Amino acid sequence: MSNETHVLDSPPPGSSDWTVPQDWAHFTAEEHATWDTLFARQAKLLPGRASEAYLRGLDVLKLSKPGIPDFEELSERLMKLTGWQVVAVPGLVPDDVFFDHMANRRFVAGNFIRRPDQLDYLQEPDVFHDVFGHVPMLADPVFADYLVAYGQGGQRALSLDALKYLGRLYWYTVEFGLIAEPEGLRIYGAGIVSSAAESRFALDDPSPNRIGFDLRRVMRTEYRIDDFQQNYFVIPSFDELLRVTVETDFAPLYDEISALPDIAIAAFEPDDVVISRGTQDYAKSRRAAILG
Ligand SMILES: [Fe+2]
Repeated sequence: MSNETHVLDSPPPGSSDWTVPQDWAHFTAEEHATWDTLFARQAKLLPGRASEAYLRGLDVLKLSKPGIPDFEELSERLMKLTGWQVVAVPGLVPDDVFFDHMANRRFVAGNFIRRPDQLDYLQEPDVFHDVFGHVPMLADPVFADYLVAYGQGGQRALSLDALKYLGRLYWYTVEFGLIAEPEGLRIYGAGIVSSAAESRFALDDPSPNRIGFDLRRVMRTEYRIDDFQQNYFVIPSFDELLRVTVETDFAPLYDEISALPDIAIAAFEPDDVVISRGTQDYAKSRRAAILG
């Protein structure tokens, strides 16, 4: 395992909940500059693309110091709005730890930032993805409650051995969700808003499918972690997303869908509300390039 992989086998010494002090002073001037570069690029790109709630929330990141946000200051601001805090972790944490923090309104953020040669893509969630991508949505009261419900649902899913299904809900909403707003489709998923290329692709490219959100459908749908999505699911509102999540009894739903086949990434189902039928050209050209 390379020392660049932020995956740990055990919690940091003396920390049973896996959190570490952010130690804002440990970041170098170059690391703060990386944040500033990424921030400036995305902040310019997102008006007219990101959801209203996200753009409103972006204000919480405008803090007194330049560069990577100081979590203490950030949490203080967020706490006043929705009761959430941001806590630092060395890297990916186990699922039960992740859900426990989330159910208790603590968002875990990786305490490192990508190198300047990795501006466009990094598979591991760094502080830019975690904070720029996720934290603005935590300033929205409805979305903030949705994440709490998700954390509680995650704890139950673990005990029901159903994380495969619930994880897809996170993927297709929190990470790669789209919302229908009066002016058109907008992005709110952290995986999109923190990526310059996918911020364009998710809305403008004719390749991916855009399908109306349906909880059961989403939880049956496979996804890919290493490239642009070929499917985006579109919610009508955050209120509706929260409502469906808190009103659904997930245990019988897991039983039901575990008896059904998974839905392949670019496939359609008869009941789909198709918002745009993708050409899949991007996926085809990528496959052709790989097969060479
Ligand atoms: Fe994320």
